Amino acid sequence: MTPAQLPKIELHLHLEGAAPPAFIRDLAKRKHMDIAGIFRPDGGYAFHDFAQFLKVYEAATSVLNTPEDYHRLTLAVLEQSAANGVIYTESFLSPDFCGDRDVAAWREYLAAIREAADIAERTHGIVMRGIVTCIRHFGPDKAKQSALCAAETAGDWLTGFGMGGDETVGRPGDFVYSFDMAREAGLRLTAHAGEWGGPDSVRATLRDLRVERIGHGVRAAEDPSLVEELAESGIVLEVCPGSNIALGLFPGWGQHPIAELLGRGVKVTVSTDDPPFFHTTMTREYDLLARAFDWDHAVFRRINAIAAEAAFCDETTRKKLNTRLEQADA
Ligand code: ADE
Ligand code: ZN
Repeated sequence: MTPAQLPKIELHLHLEGAAPPAFIRDLAKRKHMDIAGIFRPDGGYAFHDFAQFLKVYEAATSVLNTPEDYHRLTLAVLEQSAANGVIYTESFLSPDFCGDRDVAAWREYLAAIREAADIAERTHGIVMRGIVTCIRHFGPDKAKQSALCAAETAGDWLTGFGMGGDETVGRPGDFVYSFDMAREAGLRLTAHAGEWGGPDSVRATLRDLRVERIGHGVRAAEDPSLVEELAESGIVLEVCPGSNIALGLFPGWGQHPIAELLGRGVKVTVSTDDPPFFHTTMTREYDLLARAFDWDHAVFRRINAIAAEAAFCDETTRKKLNTRLEQADA
């Protein structure tokens, strides 16, 4: 079975970050919005560091301003994911962009996204669940409003709460209220850390926000005692190697710590983060990991078993995912 055909579980995908540049460009044209500055001459997104990436991301997202836009986006993204063998995806959804953190407006965006996900499940067999994300550099007050949106819509489809954005701004402890509210609403928790912050950032996130998964987390590799703690506690890392390399965190695939972390017993998974921004797909991630570390089907199978176990879904869905992974073993 080729990497493209392997069934894959993706736990870390930002919905807006998965928007193809042509989709955003066409929508901007129809709405007479001028965002030409965010594109390169070849049509891709133009940025040269993380700070600029966040600005371009927010400018691209500014054209997505109705529930219908998100319905179309969700269909386009899930079709792409399914074409890359993804059978289950957890996507980060931001009330900051979907209705300006107003609960009633957020409900409309969520309903549109969910309806598109149902269509994609029927047509492509891909299952989606949503994780509300607050955005760290927007600050704790806005995070509370996003957490309220999440708590009000928590259920069998909206199953998680998390935090993305600029890890160099503020401290995890600033967001305790939001994560406590989400936990009390029954949501499962994850937060970006150990991407632009080092091992101390991962430690503070685990201690203050009490998350069970970490988005990225790869810089934990700088501290052997933290790596040991992660392995022992079973914290799951949502690793996005192509994103890390495109943003200059590591010089190349051979220098990425994912294989070392897995070798030391840390529960790692593989995701794309914002695939068109980083010129990647789940197939490309698998291809380049296979090449860099000589990973075979058995390693990817192990990683997908970890992802199935760590998915923020109900047990019936988890069983179905494991059955689909097993079917590919034959
Ligand atoms: N939002 C989208 N992609 C992100 C990343 N790689 N880090 C932090 N926030 C993000
Ligand atoms: Zn991310």
